[in-house]
This record gives sequence, C-alpha cells and structure tokens, in this order.
Amino acid sequence: MKTWFVTGASRGLGRELTEQLLARGDRVAATARRPEQLDDLRAAHGDRLWVRALDVTDTAAQRAVVDAAFAELGRIDVVVANAGFGVFGAAEELEDADVDALLATNLTAVVQLTRAVLPHLRAQGGGRLVPVSSMGAHVTFPAFSLYHASKWGLEGFAETVAAEVAPFGIDVVLPEPGMIRTTFFDAAGHAAEHPAYEHLHGPRVAVEDMTGDQARTVAGMIRAADAPLAPTGVPRRVLLGSDAQALVSASQRRRLDEAEEQVASAAEADVVPAAC
Ligand SMILES: NC(=O)c1ccc[n+]([C@@H]2O[C@H](COP(=O)([O-])OP(=O)(O)OC[C@H]3O[C@@H](n4cnc5c(N)ncnc54)[C@H](OP(=O)(O)O)[C@@H]3O)[C@@H](O)[C@H]2O)c1
Repeated sequence: MKTWFVTGASRGLGRELTEQLLARGDRVAATARRPEQLDDLRAAHGDRLWVRALDVTDTAAQRAVVDAAFAELGRIDVVVANAGFGVFGAAEELEDADVDALLATNLTAVVQLTRAVLPHLRAQGGGRLVPVSSMGAHVTFPAFSLYHASKWGLEGFAETVAAEVAPFGIDVVLPEPGMIRTTFFDAAGHAAEHPAYEHLHGPRVAVEDMTGDQARTVAGMIRAADAPLAPTGVPRRVLLGSDAQALVSASQRRRLDEAEEQVASAAEADVVPAAC
C-alpha cells in the first residue's frame, strides 16, 4: 500500500485520482478548498483517506498541511501537485488579478509544495514528485498565454529539481495530458473581450476537441507514478492522449529543426579566439 498526497482533490483529475487510489487499496492525503466535497469518500474509505482544507495559493497553510500529513501518516510515497485552472483571453485582455491568481495556483504553489515536501522526502530516504503538467508545456494556443506560461515554468522548475534531488532517491515524473473531459474548461476564466482581439473571440473548446477520457488519463498517471523511470521504466514526461502525443511531437520537431539550422549563426556570438 502506497501513500499519496494530492492537491485539488475536489473534482476533475484530482478527485478521479483519489477515487482510483482508494479503490485499489492505497492511502490518500487529499486536500481541497472545500473538503466537504470529499465527505462521501471519507464515509466509504475511513482512515485510508486523510482530508484537509487547502487553498494551494496560501503558502503558509500548504506548508502546515504538508507537515501535518507527514507527522500523522508517516511515510508519503507520491506527491501529486494537481490543483490548477485556465483563463482564456489575449495577454492584453487579462486583468492583473488573472495573472496573479493563475501563476499563484499553477506555478508558485507547485514550487512551494515541492519545497515543503522535500525535507520530509529526504528524511524518509526518497519519494516521487508528480507535478501535473500538460501538453500545454510544449505547445501554445492563442488566448491561453497565462496557462502556457505556468506549465512551461512548472516544467523548467521540475526538471531542475529532479537533477538536484536524484542523489536522495527522490524522482520526478511529469504527466502531460492533452485535452481531457474534466470540469477544467467549464471552470476556466474568461477575460473581458477587447474589440481589437476579435480574431481570437468565439467558441473556445468544443467537447469533441477534448479527446481524453478522465478515468483513462488518471489510470495512465498512476501507471507512470508507479513505474521506475527510464531506461527501465517511464520517461520523465509522460504524454497522455493522442492529441498530446501528436502535437508535442510536431512542436518538438519544429524546434529541433530550428535549433539545428542555426549552427553557423549561433557561433557568430562566440568569443573570437585571439590570433596566435
Ligand atoms: N483537463 C485538461 O484538459 C487538462 C489537460 C492538461 C493538464 N491539466 C491539468 O490537470 C490538473 C487538474 O485539472 P482538471 O482537468 O482536473 O481541472 P478541474 O476539473 O477544473 O479541477 C481542478 C481542481 O483544481 C482545484 N483548484 C483550483 N484552484 C485551486 C486552489 N487555489 N487551491 C486548491 N485547489 C484548487 C479545483 O478545486 P475547486 O473545486 O475548489 O475549484 C479542482 O479540484 C491541472 O493542473 C490542469 O492544468 C488538465
């Protein structure tokens, strides 16, 4: 039996993850802004489900909940930074408050959760961090810049930390879902529309664009979180959904081609060796 820590467990992928883990007999420390949303699971699973209220943008509260979870549960094997949301709108249409709230939730909170759990994971001799990323950490869609900024940032942070903590037996796996049928798109914010950006207005995401299944995506997240890392197991970045696989591949190929074409022009910035 493993013990997991999950943020944003009230609905969507976080709730599905909590349900699937409990169903297979694991123990879950589930956190949610409104913990009563997990009352039904608590009634069904008793003390295999530990629940605390947590708005992940409250750094002090998040640290206190993490400390309490390790103190009360002992070992925690997997930490899933799942809470997140999106805001639609061109960069110029967004409010300052949108910028602050989205980066606080999707990026700063993941950084702070990681920093809060690391001393505990080191003390117990290892563990796994699972910051929930996205194909949106590689590809971009207009009118979704804040979300992309948060997920590209999350991956830069997570990849760096992975190298820092590998000697402690701590590793990092980044699930990268495509568009999944969760409550994400209904919950997303929409900035007030400015007529200059009419070319970006209109319907955002249709249900048929969301080709990912919530339960199958979570099953993939669990398989990835359970497996050893490559070369014997999963890659660090685990694509979930055919859309993610196709779009990320195409975008990486374009970036690789672009980088490889610049051998000569990039070298023009190098120090010119002094003549002998
Ligand atoms: N669905 C997709 O297509 C998709 C694709 C790639 C990646 N992802 C990522 O997957 C993760 C989960 O998304 P989802 O699809 O499950 O979305 P969702 O159905 O909208 O669920 C989002 C969860 O995050 C919680 N949350 C939001 N802000 C929070 C805060 N400040 N503190 C605590 N909890 C907060 C929500 O809690 P409340 O109930 O309190 O609002 C909810 O439990 C996100 O990181 C998202 O970026 C989703």
